[in-house]
Amino acid sequence: MLLEGKKALITGSSRGIGRAAALAFAREGADVVVHYRREREKAEEVAEQIRRMGRSALVFKAELEDPDAVNQLFDSIGETWQSLDIFMANAAASAFKPLLELKPHHIERTYRLLVENFILSVQRAVSLMEGRPGRIITISGHGVDYTLPRYGNIAAAKGAVETLTRYLAGELGERQITVNAIAPGVIATESEQFYMGDKLKAFDQACVRATPLGRVGDPSEVADVAVFLASALSRFITGQIITVDGGLTLTSGPFQEILGTRLRPAIYSQEVHTGESR
Ligand SMILES: NC(=O)c1ccc[n+]([C@@H]2O[C@H](COP(=O)([O-])OP(=O)(O)OC[C@H]3O[C@@H](n4cnc5c(N)ncnc54)[C@H](OP(=O)(O)O)[C@@H]3O)[C@@H](O)[C@H]2O)c1
Repeated sequence: MLLEGKKALITGSSRGIGRAAALAFAREGADVVVHYRREREKAEEVAEQIRRMGRSALVFKAELEDPDAVNQLFDSIGETWQSLDIFMANAAASAFKPLLELKPHHIERTYRLLVENFILSVQRAVSLMEGRPGRIITISGHGVDYTLPRYGNIAAAKGAVETLTRYLAGELGERQITVNAIAPGVIATESEQFYMGDKLKAFDQACVRATPLGRVGDPSEVADVAVFLASALSRFITGQIITVDGGLTLTSGPFQEILGTRLRPAIYSQEVHTGESR
């Protein structure tokens, strides 16, 4: 029980990595705010699983591009819990387009969600962490250090998130609040499906070949690192970007494909998406 008695908010926890983190935090003893934007049923299903573990779950809807909705979300948490120990800024969305094709609203919406909302949320979260050794966890990604097709818009915003993670760690250290980012590699979620479209299967096969651990990640594998960063085990770590990618960033494209030992028959099975069972 690494998070016993803690109260956590995870944005975008109705699905994907956020959902896995909500369940992992509850497994470790935390009460959780399940935040969603569109799909109340999915959020309620996550909350139901949390309650079955004996933890408390609140379900709140908020469009995080809207500062008023962000404020309402934190007002509701303050009214119900009066405090917060863990804030995981997980929600993200963007238009996947080449930079030359971006329209002003694509840029504006991405930065409003990933940068403006994030800073406003941290301001509100920190006020609920008064006198507590708070934990703030952000999510960066592979596309910050490596160029991915049609990914420049969100990658630049995630770059800002990494910078803000370091600056916030500097500013919040005296309050004993740590701020760390997780940089996932390729994780099997709906957003991966959306990004890859009908090339998903071929992409997963290529990832398997390029990844030393030989598979695409499962959301639970990011969630378990989030548990560590949310817990007292990580109390002397702050301002860091933790890569969770099965070693994908260690390999170098054509060298592995043509010369390396990682060239193996493409496999695609449930195992690829499931990862190791706990
Ligand atoms: N999957 C990967 O391979 C991968 C790799 C690197 C980094 N990441 C990062 O990991 C995080 C989670 O990714 P994921 O793949 O689990 O994503 P996902 O399945 O697309 O889930 C995104 C979540 O964010 C919420 N959201 C999006 N826009 C929102 C908005 N404007 N207001 C409020 N909520 C909003 C979504 O809510 P709705 O369902 O209601 O829209 C959803 O719950 C993201 O920060 C992503 O960039 C993922």
